[in-house]
Amino acid sequence: MSQLSSKHVIGIEHLTVDDIQLILSTTTRFKEIINRPIRKVPTLRDITVANLFFENSTRTRISFEIAQKRLSADIVNFSSSSSSVKKGETLLDTVNNILSMKVDMIVMRHPSPGAAHYLSKRIDANIINAGDGTHEHPTQALLDAYSIKEKIGDLEGKKIAIIGDIMHSRVALSNIFCLKKLGAEVTLCGPPTLIPKHISSLGVKVMHNVDEALQWCDVANVLRIQLERQNTKYFPSLREYALYFGINRQRLEKLNKEIVIMHPGPINRGVEITSDVADSAHSIILDQVENGVAIRMAVMYLLANKQD
Ligand code: CP
Repeated sequence: MSQLSSKHVIGIEHLTVDDIQLILSTTTRFKEIINRPIRKVPTLRDITVANLFFENSTRTRISFEIAQKRLSADIVNFSSSSSSVKKGETLLDTVNNILSMKVDMIVMRHPSPGAAHYLSKRIDANIINAGDGTHEHPTQALLDAYSIKEKIGDLEGKKIAIIGDIMHSRVALSNIFCLKKLGAEVTLCGPPTLIPKHISSLGVKVMHNVDEALQWCDVANVLRIQLERQNTKYFPSLREYALYFGINRQRLEKLNKEIVIMHPGPINRGVEITSDVADSAHSIILDQVENGVAIRMAVMYLLANKQD
């Protein structure tokens, strides 16, 4: 297979296993290219991409932009704080106006779950979801899967624990879909208040004891407590959260094995993970960021080459 099954990447839920495998294998080719002395290729020379960020981002925004530059695309960057959205313009009007200027592809982060799906039903351009509220963050899950595979090999049968604020995390949901499709076993761990009640229907285990989850897994993907999405108190204090669920050196030293540590960022050091773990030899946090550029190059290349 040399084409994606869809002209958009809205979520991992809607990608086939073949789509995911194609993106991962294409990523390896782009990773090789961006590590050459001349890192730029003309692949997207005639394509204009608009990066629409209606919510804050460091990694995803810069990673997409670098990926576009490496592929020689023309780029327009939009941030809602300095746009006519502030004057009451709708999302669809904003996007249709941008598309009138002959934009071919949209990368969008939006606080509303479903925003990318909504647009995909109303416009012709390719859309890549760069995170829609608490719903999905597909390129993050792809770069996570790629980074795990790079570190410990094929995901089939590997045990991945996702630890932290599952309830408010688009990274968790996209990771669950992606890892399950690639044959991994997934356990979610966190306080009961931060794990959705019926999540086990997605074929994942749930644990509330972080030491048991660490003992079970080959890889721990540690998530941030998303205070900005919490309008009620889900646990007594950050200090207590760190005590019961924080990943620290003492916890890892108690294990009778070594595990891989991941985090999608941004990190709250001293809350969900301590600096000695985040910066340790077991951590692949910066490899994840590095791989994000090649993953996004692969996704944009494959979408631009999709025949209807
Ligand atoms: N991992 C991630 O999505 O980070 P940003 O919010 O900085 O883009």
